[in-house]
Amino acid sequence: MANPSPAPKTYRVKSFGCQMNVYDGERMAELLGSQGIAPAPEGEEADLVVLNTCHIREKAAEKVYSDIGRIVKDWGRDDGSSPLIAVAGCVAQAEGEEIMARAPAVKMVVGPQAYHRLPEMIAEATAGRRAVDTDMPAQAKFDALPARRKVGPSAFLTVQEGCDKFCTYCVVPYTRGAEISRPFSAIVDEAKKLIEAGARELTLIGQNVNAWEGEDGKGRAVGLDGLIRHLAEDPDLARIRYTTSHPNDMTEGLIAAHGEVAKLMPFLHLPVQSGSNRILKAMNRSHTAESYLEILERVRAARGDIALSGDFIVGFPGETEEDFAQTLSLVQSVGYAQCFSFKYSPRPGTPAATMDHQIAPDVMDERLQRLQAALNASQHAFNAASVGKRCAVLVERKGRHAGQWLGKSPWLQSVHFEGAADIGDLVEVELVAAGPNSLSGRLVGG
Ligand code: SAH
Ligand code: SF4
Ligand code: F3S
Repeated sequence: MANPSPAPKTYRVKSFGCQMNVYDGERMAELLGSQGIAPAPEGEEADLVVLNTCHIREKAAEKVYSDIGRIVKDWGRDDGSSPLIAVAGCVAQAEGEEIMARAPAVKMVVGPQAYHRLPEMIAEATAGRRAVDTDMPAQAKFDALPARRKVGPSAFLTVQEGCDKFCTYCVVPYTRGAEISRPFSAIVDEAKKLIEAGARELTLIGQNVNAWEGEDGKGRAVGLDGLIRHLAEDPDLARIRYTTSHPNDMTEGLIAAHGEVAKLMPFLHLPVQSGSNRILKAMNRSHTAESYLEILERVRAARGDIALSGDFIVGFPGETEEDFAQTLSLVQSVGYAQCFSFKYSPRPGTPAATMDHQIAPDVMDERLQRLQAALNASQHAFNAASVGKRCAVLVERKGRHAGQWLGKSPWLQSVHFEGAADIGDLVEVELVAAGPNSLSGRLVGG
């Protein structure tokens, strides 16, 4: 058994992976703060390090072990002690106790549904006992977490967690569990607190956020569009976004909301993964390239200026040059505003990992390069077509130069401009020039 160690006075939380991990990381930080543990100053070692990990691809999952090695090496103290290390997030859920066997420096392993128990686990760990909790009691954590404190102008709010879709390549149904929706009232309550704490924009997040369902204050069954319509009534909230959606859960109501709710921003992240129906079937996506494009057409009919975004995987087992060409042609026909693209990574326990015809790494590299060239061109073209438009920009932070500000357009583009403004302001800007990743704007009337 390890020796007892003093109670931690400072912490650092490092989050990897998706927006939900960012949200969870913020909530863990708040929880630790409520226990009297302070954030460690930038560049200084912390008594407690929480690695909030991602298991989605092999590279992401392996990173945790190199990080642990680095912490132990850099921060080993003269008396031979080192910081308390906790592994949280999806690697914790997937690997559990194995992490402790592989990395003896880790004293706590806590899954994404159990992190509200960190204070008790820290007490265990400081007493010299290693603590593991990968239980999945749906919802319990939200009730046990402290209230939200100060936040920036744009805040994440988890409304849905987990996934029942079981795409054959993906670990999320195993690491995050079955789909659950947080109750309407809990979400409305947290939204209020976030707005009071400074948020002007809320991004509702979930692994399949558009599968959210609940009952409104009057006991009526509502979907995500009903929740959005309700939140939009708050006069202090300026903007609403949501991510990530599955094509099969794009309801008529949600599509209509894009045309009817002014505060719902004209942006939709709708992953398709591949343009080949043969590959989509092997991925168990339960939609086709055509049904996906048809959804986008309906969304565009509701909101003509909607910016579209997606996720792609290249090199799924069995993907031929012809399949890949269909992905490229889908990209051409959609005209995405931005996208994420990945090389397929076989994940332990998923059906695709043992499929025949795994694709050679050099073929994947080459396809990813071609896909990214097409996606970058598409993003650049989208940005270039925005030049000359006037739009509201939500100011998120100071820019690199004195007097410069950085914010987001309704289409989620980064916009920088100069002039009189402050963080949290919604300012009117004319977009004057476009780069591949951002635009420059001129303050209207400034
Ligand atoms: N629930 C969301 C996002 C899940 S993870 C959705 O379905 O859209 C984010 C992205 O990671 C996925 O959309 C997919 O493109 C990618 N991804 C998931 N598993 C992967 C794997 N094994 N290899 C490569 N990319 C993967
Ligand atoms: Fe993974 Fe598919 Fe679920 Fe998205 S929908 S989280 S890709 S299983
Ligand atoms: Fe990664 Fe878990 Fe998110 S595997 S992408 S952190 S749900």
